[in-house]
Amino acid sequence: MNTIYITRRETFNGAHKLWQEEWSEEKNWEVFGKCSNKNWHGHNFQLFVTVKGVPDENTGFVMNLKTLSQILKEKVIEPLDHKNLNLDVPFFKGKMASTENLAIAIWDEIYDIIAKNGGELAKIKLVETENNYVNYYGGKEPF
Ligand code: NI
Repeated sequence: MNTIYITRRETFNGAHKLWQEEWSEEKNWEVFGKCSNKNWHGHNFQLFVTVKGVPDENTGFVMNLKTLSQILKEKVIEPLDHKNLNLDVPFFKGKMASTENLAIAIWDEIYDIIAKNGGELAKIKLVETENNYVNYYGGKEPF
């Protein structure tokens, strides 16, 4: 089968703070460094969402990227962009605002709706800085 992977990129910016309430200020600084800054800091995130499938006979598409973009705008970008990730995002409430946890939360938020639109979510890549990013495959081993 001609399984192929397509990727849509979106961007958003958000503020966060990595802070464990049960720890002292010194321990938070030791573990989280500058990301523990009390008055928040921000990142320009890049989100790469990869969907797999077989090209449709009529369209040649795995999934219409316009549809995928609309889903991402509504479910991910609107709720996250220009927000405080620790405080403002309903689907991320109460979680440590790491890039890892955010990638997992985004996967959980969009998996079903992508499936309803004929795609199978395969990978999320979330870039926090030019040097740091995470890949998530829904808890499975990468292909
Ligand atoms: Ni940070």
